[in-house]
Amino acid sequence: MIIQKTENSRISTFDPNNFSFGNTFSDHMIICEYENGKWGDVKLVPYGPLLFTPAMMGVNYGQACFEGMKAYKDNDGQVFLFRPEKNFERINKSATRLAMPEVTEEMFLDGLKALVDIDRDWIPQGEGNSLYIRPLIFATEEALKARVANKYMFAIVATPAKMYYTEPVSVKISDHYSRAASGGVGSAKAAGNYAASFYPTQLAIDEGYDQIIWTDDATHEYFEESGTMNVFVRINDTIFTPPTSEKILDGVTRDSFIALAKKRGFEVKVEAIKVKDVVGAQKNGTLKEVWGVGTAVVTTVFQALGYNGEKLELPRLSDEESFAVTLKNDLVNLQTNLSEDPFGWRVLVDHALETV
Ligand code: COI
Repeated sequence: MIIQKTENSRISTFDPNNFSFGNTFSDHMIICEYENGKWGDVKLVPYGPLLFTPAMMGVNYGQACFEGMKAYKDNDGQVFLFRPEKNFERINKSATRLAMPEVTEEMFLDGLKALVDIDRDWIPQGEGNSLYIRPLIFATEEALKARVANKYMFAIVATPAKMYYTEPVSVKISDHYSRAASGGVGSAKAAGNYAASFYPTQLAIDEGYDQIIWTDDATHEYFEESGTMNVFVRINDTIFTPPTSEKILDGVTRDSFIALAKKRGFEVKVEAIKVKDVVGAQKNGTLKEVWGVGTAVVTTVFQALGYNGEKLELPRLSDEESFAVTLKNDLVNLQTNLSEDPFGWRVLVDHALETV
């Protein structure tokens, strides 16, 4: 790895008690260029803009995918990643679906560890705080032919994060728009999936909701995801979440929630969730909770579901009664080294720069 440390660290301007997610970037970034059929050297360089032209294929034809993951600092200052191999596997699945080259495990994991190690001062300590890490791959070739590009960039940038969406939100169950279609790119973390979600989400916001529960494109009868998250429903004491598919992202937080729920002895059913069953459960009082999970937010609890012009209120549970909050705490405690790690999910980042 080629390492070029910044001479102008901005760390003294970073106030860990006062920052907003996604606008503040750590001192360094990883970049690696692909051309002539192979990846070049991985470089750790000062964070900053890169030079591209508007004819860059990534912005014209959307060959771009990304990951979201986090680094955590425990009370002793030790730094951990969480299940980074899952993100490595998924970025390559996304890349393949978008006809982009896969990255190597070494590029991805060494790049990640080196960046987190050098920028460890940017990881805010404290409950729910972390460094959000964004690995991405995008087409950089300067060409306007609509075909697979032959130049790409792999990059990793990082932004300090705290818990966000802490208040319960209202979500509209979509009866028209879908996030993904059969045969499409729903299971890829494709940049275009997010672009396509913004307009319907804006319409839902105009109607007084915060987010959308995405339903299937064919019938709108089944839950798929919520906002930028995977979705969970609790009816009585059983937790339901839809199986992953070509339309549903294989979320690392989703997978971790399922494992943690089973460990607690909760009943978890990974099966299709029918809108009408959720609405029926709300009407007969057996619907206890609906929530979304994702790396950035960890958990967002929903307070109301919009369906057919009606706002269906959900019960207000205490933190102790809520499975969503219980599982979120289990996850955050594990991620931040406040609890045992029976699954072997934490990866200590220690002197990574010396070994790359
Ligand atoms: C994540 O949770 O990592 C996401 O994908 C949300 C992000 C778009 C902010």
